[in-house]
Amino acid sequence: MRILVINGPNLNLLGTREPSTYGTETLADLERSWRMHATRIGIGIATCQSNHEGAIIDAIQNARGKFNGIVLNGGAFTHYSYAIYDALIAVDLPTVEVHISNVMEREPWRRTSVTAPAAIAVVYGRGTTGYINAIDHLAAYIAMPPTTISYDAGSTPDTVIDLRTPRSQEPAPVAMLVHGGFWRDQWTRDLMSPLATSLTGHGWATANVEYTRGEDSLETAIGNVADATTWLRAHGADHGIDGSRIVLIGHSAGGFLAIRRAHEDPGLVGVVALAPVTDLAAISATRPEDDPVASALGSHRSAPTLDGEPLRPVHIIHGVRDTSVPDTQSTTYAALHPETVVQHAAGDVEHMAVIDPHDVSFGTLLEALRQLNLN
Ligand code: DQA
Repeated sequence: MRILVINGPNLNLLGTREPSTYGTETLADLERSWRMHATRIGIGIATCQSNHEGAIIDAIQNARGKFNGIVLNGGAFTHYSYAIYDALIAVDLPTVEVHISNVMEREPWRRTSVTAPAAIAVVYGRGTTGYINAIDHLAAYIAMPPTTISYDAGSTPDTVIDLRTPRSQEPAPVAMLVHGGFWRDQWTRDLMSPLATSLTGHGWATANVEYTRGEDSLETAIGNVADATTWLRAHGADHGIDGSRIVLIGHSAGGFLAIRRAHEDPGLVGVVALAPVTDLAAISATRPEDDPVASALGSHRSAPTLDGEPLRPVHIIHGVRDTSVPDTQSTTYAALHPETVVQHAAGDVEHMAVIDPHDVSFGTLLEALRQLNLN
């Protein structure tokens, strides 16, 4: 598999250009890190940059037959180049659009992307990490394209699942993946795509869930995850899925959503929570200036809780080097529920490693799933 990463105007100035917005790494630094990452995940990569619209169009056209997909940061062309949109449609290669900055929270004109309708996903507002996320999502998409289906009759673009089913005669048990990102708009289910393809490679059907995010979203998100399980039970069989055998795998803030289901849904097989948030008040206390919980709670005064006993087993994998959600949250939660909660040693890993199928913790995840006694 080969991916082409194209950077547009002014991105050659990364490192010196508005560092508070675009960071301090140069384009050469970034290209080096993408090449290392590509080697790690076993794909080929090539990169190019131009300040000229025509040169970008040429690069897109020339990618046909040589690359399986494109990662594109079109810079300001994003906001008005119908010619680049046309080129992407013409070559018909899966493309992930990336923006380093949070284009949704800057000048209003940056919110418009005329090229996004030609992309399978847009990754924005994650700093330069967004490129790695884009490469990972694209590689997973190329390796195993999902079927994307609404679980609530198309009411919003955010209420969908990406379904992948293994090649097997029997209906497969299903792992429903719930991504993290503190319920903020810019963190989306692309984060779980590598895990989804790897688990499907190990015989699991996967349903990678999107849910409502942003201001005032938490209660709706909890309902969304419940609705997605209801949909799988009702319609899984039409897709080769055994909807009676659902495991929820939630990461970080999505871990909270997944564990919450274990407290409410006795029909689940169980939950595997990866670096989960279990103490909302502690998250607020450590981020008083930019409290993600207050923002996601919005008008709802009282935060949802994980009170009471989980109705189904919860397996937790939480690295000791996690600086986003301290592993003490998991230790405390596990100690409260010795009958139902199993905490696995994840070792010396940080917050995102637990959703990386190339990390050693993936073996721990498979073991937790095995202990849930499904496969
Ligand atoms: C950008 C955002 C664009 O609005 C801007 O014109 C850029 C970079 C980003 O990466 O955040 O040049 O694409």
